[in-house]
This record gives sequence, C-alpha cells and structure tokens, in this order.
Amino acid sequence: MNVDVLIGLQWGDEGKGKIVDFLAPNYEIIARFQGGPNAGHTLVVNGEKIVLHTIPSGILHKNKINLIGNGVVINPTTLCEELDKLDKWNVSYADNLLLAERGHLILPTHKVLDAASEAAKGKAKIGSTLRGIGPTYMDKTGRNGLRVGDIHSSDFLEKYTKLKEKHLDLLRLYDFEFDIEAEEKNWFKSIERIKALKVVSSPYFLNEHIKKGHRILAEGAQGSMLDVDFGTYPFVTSSNTITAAACKGLGIGPNQIKDVIGISKAYCTRVGAGPFPTGQYNEIGEKLRVIGHEFGATTGRERGCGWIDLVALKFACIINGVTQIALTKADVLNDFDEIESGSSYTVNGKETKQVPFEMTDELKVNYTSHPGWKQSLEGITEYKDIPEKLSNYVTYLEAYLETPISMVSTGPGRKELILK
Ligand code: GDP
Ligand code: IMO
Ligand code: MG
Repeated sequence: MNVDVLIGLQWGDEGKGKIVDFLAPNYEIIARFQGGPNAGHTLVVNGEKIVLHTIPSGILHKNKINLIGNGVVINPTTLCEELDKLDKWNVSYADNLLLAERGHLILPTHKVLDAASEAAKGKAKIGSTLRGIGPTYMDKTGRNGLRVGDIHSSDFLEKYTKLKEKHLDLLRLYDFEFDIEAEEKNWFKSIERIKALKVVSSPYFLNEHIKKGHRILAEGAQGSMLDVDFGTYPFVTSSNTITAAACKGLGIGPNQIKDVIGISKAYCTRVGAGPFPTGQYNEIGEKLRVIGHEFGATTGRERGCGWIDLVALKFACIINGVTQIALTKADVLNDFDEIESGSSYTVNGKETKQVPFEMTDELKVNYTSHPGWKQSLEGITEYKDIPEKLSNYVTYLEAYLETPISMVSTGPGRKELILK
C-alpha cells in the first residue's frame, strides 16, 4: 500500500497544489491522474508564485519523479507554456517529468468545440474553462482520440487530420466562427518539443516502483462536487475526480491505496455555473473573496464564495474514502465575528443531511454558528498554539465528517501549515 491519493473535496481550488508541494518530499513519485489544463494549481515558494495546469505539483522538488498519467488530457501548447515557466524558475524536468503513453491529446478543434457548445447552450452554459476538456474526453470514450503514444508514429499527421475533419463536420452544426491557424501552428511546434519528454507505460512504470517500496502521491484535479458521476450534474467537469479515478488514471490497483487525503477550504468557493447552496451573494461572500483572493488560477474569473457545506463535504468523504483532511485557508476567516457551517438542507420542506439528486432553488441550507477567533494565525507552527475557537471549529468539523483533520493551512506559502 504505497500509494496515497490527494483529492479536492469541494468544487475545486481547495489548495491541492500547495498541499502536494508540501507533502512531495515524502514520496518518490507524484502523479496527476485526471483533468487537464482546466486545473490551476498554485504553488508559493519564498513569496514567488507558480501556477501549474498539467504538470504535477511535485515538480519543484529535485529528484522527484512527476508523472502525467493516462487519465489526464494534455494540450501540448499549454504544457510547453508550463515548461517555459519551469525554465524561468531554473527547475529541471528533462529527467523527472514523464508522460503516460495513453494520455489523450487536446486538439485546437477540441477547444473550438467547447466554445461552440457553450455558446449554443446560452443561459444553460456550464461555465467551462473552455480548455477543450469535455470534447477531448468525449473523443476518448467515443474511441476517436489521439494519444501521447501516437505522436511518435509515422501516420500521426494523418490521424490528426482525420480527427480534425470530424470536428470540422461537427462544427458545421453550430453557428460559430473560429480561426485556429495560429493555434494549430503552435500546437505542432509544441508536439515537436514534447517529443523530447520521456514517455512511459504508466502501469508497468508505477508498479515497478511500488515493488521497490517507493511511495507515490496521486494528485487529483478539480473537486468531488465537479465529478461527472457524483457532482452537481450537468454543472461538472467531464472526468471522474474522485479517489477511484486514481486507479484508472494511472494503472494501479485499489489495494495499493493507503491514505486518501481530502482537501477542503475552511469555507467554500465555486467558479463557473451551477448550484452552490452555501454561496453568499452578499457582503460576506465579497469579504471572503477579497481576503481569500478568490479569483480563478486558470481563467481569472471571480469565484463565488460562501460558508463550508458539510452536507456536500460528508458526501465527498464517503465517495472518496477520505482518511484525513487538510483544512486550507483557515487564515481567511481570522476576521469574522461568526462563522457559519451548512449542517443540513431542507428540501421540499423536509430536513436532510444527504445530497439530493438535484440541488434546485427549492433547497435551503440550515446553518450552525461558530464564534470566530478574531486573531492572526501568522507564525503559529504548532497545533497546540492555535486559538481555542479555531480548535473548537476543527473539532466540530471532525465530529460531523467522522474524519480527522490532520493539517490546517494558514497561508499560501509552503511553510504556512500546521500539522495536527
Ligand atoms: P488548487 O486548484 O486546489 O491547487 O487551488 P488553487 O491554486 O486554484 O487555489 C488556491 C489558492 O489559495 C491559491 O492562490 C493558493 O496560493 C491559495 N492558498 C492555498 N492555501 C492557502 C491558505 O491556507 N491560506 C491562504 N490565504 N491562501 C492559500
Ligand atoms: P482545479 O484543479 C475549479 C469548473 C469550471 C466549470 C466546470 C466545467 O484548479 O481545482 P471544464 O473546463 O472542465 O469544462 O469546466 O468545472 N472547473 C474548475 N473549477 N477548479 C478547477 O480545477 C476546475 N476545473 C474545472 O469552472 O464550472
Ligand atoms: Mg485551481
């Protein structure tokens, strides 16, 4: 049982990147297993910030292998932009950044299809990041996709053209204008560059390392409430974001998984469209956004902000088999007199602690109040030194979720973390 899985428990942006970066020294391999450049994982080291979209968040640690698993969808252009950032930071990746050969490629026309589909949906749009994620996963399950392993084959251009033609046929169904000439040129240039990266068969590669006793941290993207099966469908992403996806997105057996580290903010955010029961579209939400700098790491969009939703969080703990939680952004709540937690819903006049089939406007949240600690957490390194009211809040969450909180994050920096 050498694999630990780290996943988001809310609607994404829980601070997964920061926690992976912190935990990476304990592992030999850090492996992303799903999603693609819709993700934006922020690492802050010595006050400097880097946002990763496709590359695992262990890359800043020398001698750690970082694998982009077969469950990830890859846009070669975005990947190369990330490589440029690493070059600027003098981070080496030639030997320790690996691509799984079965990972699917995002084509320029996948992005156009994403944009055309969203435009056609009008008011019902998903609020996609428009990175081509949905159309690429559709081609994967539709058995049309292009994979990393294809880039070395002699008929790659032929395969590309066939898929592009298919997309162009589909695009004729939409009244949508586009021009991909420049993007396509860049895409092929990027394909040439990523040919230099090492490509592996993820199952054999990882299982060899497991045999040697090496430890693997599987890094998820998005969050459980964006999962295509269990999230707020259809306002979800197009992949499974939960622990189970680590097995199929890397090629490891479930019996290899030991810990499941779930990441949750001490409050909650959501970006894009779809229900957000505890969202606060008032001065509380605004205060959380300003203090928490809640703007998307990928798109720069404002994130909706609200109180922690324990009904949804408990659901996420169950479907993921969470063994421990990292509670992030506790510092953002430093200045609140009262902190609320959504502890049950009332749906059609009936109180429930279960996530319903659909979260409609009929759903009302019932809150529990917690007194705020009203003090800075800066410089606190030991759990015993945290304010009592924060400790009471943590204890309440643990009891509700029936899951231990093992880390409390108190700032964006690598060292701003209290282990419990
Ligand atoms: P991810 O997608 O889950 O990796 O999260 P994002 O990087 O999209 O968003 C999390 C944001 O919160 C980033 O700007 C992080 O630098 C920041 N962050 C992470 N942990 C903390 C924390 O404990 N306190 C504060 N104030 N910011 C944090
Ligand atoms: P990380 O890994 C937050 C949201 C989008 C939209 C929906 C579908 O940084 O936590 P898509 O581009 O997948 O078609 O968008 O999912 N979304 C995210 N929200 N964090 C993310 O990733 C997200 N990835 C997708 O805003 O609502
Ligand atoms: Mg993010």
